[in-house]
Amino acid sequence: MAEDSEMCSCFARSLERRTALKMALGLVVGFNFVHVAAAQDDARSARPRAGDLFTFAEGVEEGRVIAPGDLAQGGPQVMAFPLDPRTRLVRDGSRLNKLLLVRLDPAGLDEETRGHAADGIVAYSAICTHQGCDVMAWDAELQSFWCPCHDSKFDPRDGGRVVTGPAPRRLPALPVKIADGVLMAAGGFSAHVGPKTR
Ligand code: FES
Repeated sequence: MAEDSEMCSCFARSLERRTALKMALGLVVGFNFVHVAAAQDDARSARPRAGDLFTFAEGVEEGRVIAPGDLAQGGPQVMAFPLDPRTRLVRDGSRLNKLLLVRLDPAGLDEETRGHAADGIVAYSAICTHQGCDVMAWDAELQSFWCPCHDSKFDPRDGGRVVTGPAPRRLPALPVKIADGVLMAAGGFSAHVGPKTR
């Protein structure tokens, strides 16, 4: 009997140890999962940077990497999100990362704009500097981005300058380059994205 009860308490202790071990393991796995998820959220919300690729932000092609040949000469613009080429994470965790890509005649770009363009392709923030709507339309006659919320228009050939409407400042530009046929960001935004709150 004494042997039996000793075996029982030994078994119970081993069971407790295993339960405690499983709980600890669960906590570690849970912590790592939360940690990884938080890091991914940070990476998805981080602003675009040099080397990022671009993906379609909407439509049937959403998520596909944009090649220079996907952009029609003379517009309209394509809505895009940056993609971190190392992790393959699309930086769509913040709408402030939404971009406009358009391909224009390089000869029509002013000197400064040509400096951050590649083969006539230019990129700008898609967030209107007036009240933050998506700059989703295109004025083919003026060859300008058009924010339909309050009719602001921006000239992509002239550094995103405001052509008309209440927007108080130009759209921030994102420099681009083409390397081995791949279109990518050559740096970060030229200015604060979206409306200035103060
Ligand atoms: S939010 Fe674009 S013009 Fe007002």
